[in-house]
Amino acid sequence: MKNIVILISGRGSNMEAVVRAAENEGWPARIAAVISNKPQAQGLEFARARGIPTAVVASKEFSSRVEFDAALQEVIDRFAPDLVVLAGFMRILTASFVEHYAGRMLNIHPSLLPLFPGLGTHRQALESGAAEHGATVHFVTAELDHGPVVAQARVPVLADDTEDTLSARVLAEEHTLYPHAVRLFVEDRLSIHDGEVRIMRDAPAETSSI
Ligand code: GAR
Repeated sequence: MKNIVILISGRGSNMEAVVRAAENEGWPARIAAVISNKPQAQGLEFARARGIPTAVVASKEFSSRVEFDAALQEVIDRFAPDLVVLAGFMRILTASFVEHYAGRMLNIHPSLLPLFPGLGTHRQALESGAAEHGATVHFVTAELDHGPVVAQARVPVLADDTEDTLSARVLAEEHTLYPHAVRLFVEDRLSIHDGEVRIMRDAPAETSSI
């Protein structure tokens, strides 16, 4: 049984998709906690209603990134995570925090990385005239939105798209993509070689479910 801790900052629809998939598909994993840096994050309600332990480490109460990340790390580690899932967690992380969870922290980013790291990805995609856009799940490394890629989902950019229509199309894909990627991790099917993710076709024998 793997412990998953999910970090959110807002709506939490990706967190919800992971929680539902873990339940519906009977993953060998438990959602040990949902933690937010924003006390008002909408997603906390869903987690509470599901009986998932929640915690808030309010980023605005810390005067430095280093102090906030240290406090957050302390709270996360109380839940002994095998995997930390960033699901719309809108923080730049310190190198030491990232290092602490090296190889066991995933993020979803709403673009086809390496295109459009950072904020405003849907606007950037529209302005660039790209024919395609999408989302990427990657292992988190110290460089923002640059870690080894686990999986991507692609959508077309349509002629009459606005940021809203494009982001909705991408988000719908995220809700399938993220559970898929997290499940691969939970089933021990991911490994990283020279900065590239390899995906095993089947779970290793010793962890496959009966
Ligand atoms: C998602 O689109 C996610 O990819 C994005 O924020 C949204 C969160 O929605 N994440 C980032 O931009 C991280 N850089 P959600 O709270 O409903 O999951």
